[in-house]
Amino acid sequence: MRISSKIEKAINDQISYEASAVNTYIAMGSWCERTGYDGSATFFFEQANEENTHMLKFVHYLNNAEAEAIIPAIEKPQSKFSSLESTFQAALKSEQTVTKLINDLVEIAEKEKDRATSLFLQWFISEQVEEEILFQTILQKFEIYGREKLAVYQIDQSLASIRSQVMAKKQISR
Ligand code: FEO
Repeated sequence: MRISSKIEKAINDQISYEASAVNTYIAMGSWCERTGYDGSATFFFEQANEENTHMLKFVHYLNNAEAEAIIPAIEKPQSKFSSLESTFQAALKSEQTVTKLINDLVEIAEKEKDRATSLFLQWFISEQVEEEILFQTILQKFEIYGREKLAVYQIDQSLASIRSQVMAKKQISR
């Protein structure tokens, strides 16, 4: 299977963004860890692993399409945050950017009449819906429980296992 140079470049750009997301989430996890938000630290380190999986899916796709996956240099991510809530706001914003980038990629694939790439990208479309729901669900908790120290502590504690809870809910609704 061969892909066009346009698709190759677009996917390499996406590899770069996914790699940035890995480091961004590690930086968020690291800030949470040193601030005492252990539940959120666990959450963000797991999220970084997910992003690494996304990056590798694109890397394998290009390499198997007789193209070259370019492993990028990454800029230093933000390392300090003003509050736990602000880390999740930044995370949601980043996921919304990824959703847009994936949609743009789909558009390029469709214009190039590249059905295989369009099909490959379907997984990422569903994944982005899930990622945005996950972060919206977490941000809702701040609205419900509030932002007092004890409320934030309880939210943090609930985050160590939120991924499995949200995933389980989705399995039920499918
Ligand atoms: Fe790889 Fe969270 O987007």
